[in-house]
Amino acid sequence: MYKSSVDIKKLIRPNIMGLKPYSSARNEFSGTDKKMIFLDANENPFDNGLNRYPDPLQNKLKQKISELKEIPEENILLGNGSDEVLDLLFRAFCNPGKDNILTFPPTYGMYQVLADINDIDVKEVLLNDSFQIDVEKALQEINEETKIIFICSPNNPTGNLMREESVENLLVNFNGLVVVDEAYIDFADSESWIKKIKKYKNLVVTQTFSKAFGKAGIRLGICFADQEIINILNSIKPPYNINILTQEEGLETLVNYKNIFKQKNQIIKYKDQLISKIQDISFVKEIFKTDANFVLIRVDDADKRYQQILEKGIVVRNRNTQPKCENCLRITMGTEEQNKELYKVLKSIES
Ligand SMILES: Cc1ncc(COP(=O)(O)O)c(C=O)c1O
Repeated sequence: MYKSSVDIKKLIRPNIMGLKPYSSARNEFSGTDKKMIFLDANENPFDNGLNRYPDPLQNKLKQKISELKEIPEENILLGNGSDEVLDLLFRAFCNPGKDNILTFPPTYGMYQVLADINDIDVKEVLLNDSFQIDVEKALQEINEETKIIFICSPNNPTGNLMREESVENLLVNFNGLVVVDEAYIDFADSESWIKKIKKYKNLVVTQTFSKAFGKAGIRLGICFADQEIINILNSIKPPYNINILTQEEGLETLVNYKNIFKQKNQIIKYKDQLISKIQDISFVKEIFKTDANFVLIRVDDADKRYQQILEKGIVVRNRNTQPKCENCLRITMGTEEQNKELYKVLKSIES
């Protein structure tokens, strides 16, 4: 069986490698079965359910995620949204002012923003006309300083999955990390990459509670990766990055996992309904295949249509300025009623 030979230690920034992580009170003493009096963290002793710091390693929540996803806990890290996970990856692996990352526009905008914040150069290889990765160009583009390749699959804003062979090719031929951002994977008719972290040491998969799980408000993202990567991210994350309310709500969400499936299937059904209806809208020129909870459409004039739809009380996303997305609008799936309302609005602005 192929096992990627990437040496993770060599990829870690030297200052991070040598870092002595902050040791929080709850790290130093996390408890035993014996009832203890905690006078070690300068908390308020009066119990209101939230007076204590949260579990810094979110063990209960990770246990449940591990059970559901069939991935060992030591391969899981939780972040304040997957955006925090992405930022931690920059901070652990990319030397500011020196290293670079590779992205495939049009794609999720935070890769660029996080690179800018961390003073990291961004190399870009545009997706091809089918919104797929040009692997040959990607491999030509990378150099010694390329530390991370970001692949969004299903991709935001185009909605499509990236071809398995392309991802695999990059994993095998690139000596840095390949991050597969699976924020929308639950809507897709495809296996997640998480099961492949055993095979590819340089594979990092991110997922989130913000989309199919319906909990964007609690800010909870998941990272699945080799233990060496998880350990280094754990050593640099803020000690209490997932608050108690989020940990509790996250756990509750997973206990009611069946509801997520029900909702997800409803959203997919509504998407199929909406897509079939909007084919007859005269100014809709192209509807792109989507495996996410949104659809990208090309219209005659995106700026004009965006404004008209807005004036009727519906906010969609104008992606006109994104490469290869000229005159494109991205529409998130609403409830059946919301989608019907959108269709009515689209019909009303036809003439
Ligand atoms: C592709 C992609 N990744 C990550 C995120 C951020 O997710 P989170 O809410 O977990 O920070 C988004 C949010 O829209 C996204 O589209």
